[in-house]
Parts: sequence; structure tokens; C-alpha cells
Amino acid sequence: MGEAVPTTLFLNAAQTVTCAGPGRARRGAEMAEAGVVAGAGVAVQGERIVAVAPDDALRRAYPNAAAIDCGRRLLAPGFVDSHTHAVFGGARFAEQELRASGVPYMDIARRGGGIHSSVRDLRARSDDELLTLTEARLGKLAAGGVTTIEVKSGYGLSVHDELRTLRIIARLAGGGPWRLVATCLGAHEIPLEYRHRPGGREAWIETLCTELYPQVAAEQLAAFADVFCEPGVFTVDEARRLLTAARGYGLLPKLHADELHDGGAALLAAELGAASADHLAAISPAGMSALAASDTVATLLPATMLFLGTGRQAPARPLIEAGGAVALASDFNPGTSPLQSFPLVLTLGVSQLRMSAAEAWIAGTVNGAAALGLAAVTGQLAVGYRADLAIHDVDDYRELPYWFGERLCTGSWMDGRACHVTP
Ligand code: NIG
Ligand code: FE
Repeated sequence: MGEAVPTTLFLNAAQTVTCAGPGRARRGAEMAEAGVVAGAGVAVQGERIVAVAPDDALRRAYPNAAAIDCGRRLLAPGFVDSHTHAVFGGARFAEQELRASGVPYMDIARRGGGIHSSVRDLRARSDDELLTLTEARLGKLAAGGVTTIEVKSGYGLSVHDELRTLRIIARLAGGGPWRLVATCLGAHEIPLEYRHRPGGREAWIETLCTELYPQVAAEQLAAFADVFCEPGVFTVDEARRLLTAARGYGLLPKLHADELHDGGAALLAAELGAASADHLAAISPAGMSALAASDTVATLLPATMLFLGTGRQAPARPLIEAGGAVALASDFNPGTSPLQSFPLVLTLGVSQLRMSAAEAWIAGTVNGAAALGLAAVTGQLAVGYRADLAIHDVDDYRELPYWFGERLCTGSWMDGRACHVTP
């Protein structure tokens, strides 16, 4: 353990939740093991973790290292929020009241509201304005201990505005204390100008396949392509066609699957070997078996179902018990999940999805990373992994989901660089 590169030690943690283990999605019973240890610190050189060991051993091995005192708090991997729609203009609070008065989410969209209203809003705003708004929102997520954030386009819905959105994400990727992963969600809806003309639906799908995806790939603006596959939006056959075309350009498939109604989207995700199938509140038993037997991560978004007030949640327990790999994410977006606190997602994972605290930690770290193809890069405190860490002001890892709604993260580091540190 030499010291050619300056070393920083994270010492004096009350408990360290390492999530250490294989660099792949954890499945079934594996999710119950979050690698919680007492008295362990972490040594960081440059952007990587070089040791996880008892404090005394680290002090002896690195006598000249700088030390960060965790102050008897919890030391943990940075969270991976693997599903957000963070680039948008304004809030959509009027819809919340509409839903409360009994108007369903999909009816609001059919009236030209919902996603369409965010599309009108985004198109009217400048790049700089959108960048500033998004940067502030990502900052709030990061302040909760998130170090990797997936961000989708999907409120542009023209080739021009989708590319504009993805270029804003690319600008933000280089400019903040976070690792951003971009997803092209040009297939979030049929834009209204296409929806209401004969052949328009087909024309938009063709535009995505032959114009948007190739341009996104040529400019390397996204790693993934996603489709809102839901009765009333894109059908399973359309999603198959879109994601197959996208994959031809190197964009890996993801799906908004079986969110409100079962349309067979989870089966499609398994068939395509998608990186993840997200939502799943209405998944069928056949969809569940197919997903659990596949390498596709089941990404559950409990804040969305809570906020929509559907009274329903995805079947996390049966998915885990069938041997599936479950991730938790915020789905941060202006319509169905205006949530910028990742720890609250863990709370909902335990209290609404009936996961154990250890399962919720794995779902928000390793399995979120797996949903982004990054399970060998981030999501755990282990030698060789990126130095993505957070300190939370609790003694025990089970307390983070417990103190719901509290802001408990007092510092985080991405690639060994301080993101935000509260004394
Ligand atoms: O994941 N379901 C589709 N997309 C988002 C909601 C988008 C919106 O309403 O603006 C979601 O819930
Ligand atoms: Fe979403």
C-alpha cells in the first residue's frame, strides 16, 4: 500500500455500509446482504478506492494520508438514481389537484396536458434557462448523497428539442459534482402535432428511428434509449421496433413498462435483454417470471405511485422472491414524481414495497448502477471502485429509511472529489 498518489482516509464512522460484493446486479436473496461493518474506514487515491479496512490498519498503512473524520456517522456508497426526467421547465401542480378531484393521469394527457404541457414549456425556454433550472435540481439530488444520476430527454419531442435537451445534459455532465448518464426518451409520447394528423403516429416513430437515434449516436449524446410502453402511448410492437432501431445505433434499451396497466411491456424488456424495465406497478405474473429469469433490472419507482395516489405499488417482494434484481429510483419529473430526495425513495422501498433496509440500500446503489451498466464502476465501497461516497448523520444504516423526509447527508464525494460537505 504505497503512497505515490496523495491518499485520503475516511475514518471514525459509526458504521460502514459497503454494499461490497460482485460487480453485477444482486438478485433475490443476495439483495439482503448490504455488507454492513463497524469500525471500517476507506482509503481513496485519486478517483478510486484503494482500501476498505479497520481504521487502525489504514492509519498504519497510510501514515501521511489526509483524514476526513466521519464524526461517528454512517459511511456509505454514493447513491445511484437510475431514472430521472430532470430537464424540464416549470412545475405542474395544477394537475395534482385535478387528479385529486378524480381525473385520471392518462385523461389529463388526452386533453393535451401532462407530458404535452411540459413539452410546450420546454420548447419555449432557452438552453441557458433549462440548464440553470436542471443544475439546481441535480444539486438537490446530490445533496441527498446521490453521486450518479441518469437523466432522460423526453420533453422536447421534436428532433431539434430532443437533441437540445441531450446537449444540455452533456453540458451538465462536465460541470457538476456528479456522474450523469443520458437516456434518449424521444419515445415519451406522440407529439400533439403528429398525434392529430393521419399517419402522424407512424411518421413520428419513423422520425425517431431514422433521424433522432442516428443523430444522438453520432454525437454520442446518450447511452440508452427508452420508450413509454403503455396502453394509450406506445404499444409493445412499436416499442420493439423503436428499441431495435435504437440498438442498431448502439443505444441500449430501457423501458417504462406496465406502469398503470399491464400491456406486456415487462415481457418485451426480457425479450430484448433491456438494461432495465421501470415502474412495473401493473406487471402480470408472466411478466414477473420473465423478468426474474432475465438479466434485466426491475427498477421500481415507489414515489410515483404514492404521488399519483393510485393506492398501488409494484410487487417488489414477489420479484425478489422469484430471484429478480430490483433497483429503486426517484423517477424525478414534474408530472408524477416531483421528488428531489433520494433517501425518501429508500423509505418508500421499506414502508410501501416491504423491502428490508439492506435490500433498499442494495437497490439504491449496486442495482441502480447495474441498471446503467455501471455495476463494476460504482455503487459499492470496495477496492478498485470509484471513490463515490456519502456520510449520513445516523448511527445505523436502517435509520436512513427510518427518519423519513429528513435531510441527513452531511457530505458526499464523487470520483474522490468533494461534492458538498456540511460541517
Ligand atoms: O415516469 N410515465 C412516463 N413518464 C413519467 C411521467 C412524465 C410526466 O408526467 O411528465 C414517469 O412517470
Ligand atoms: Fe419515468
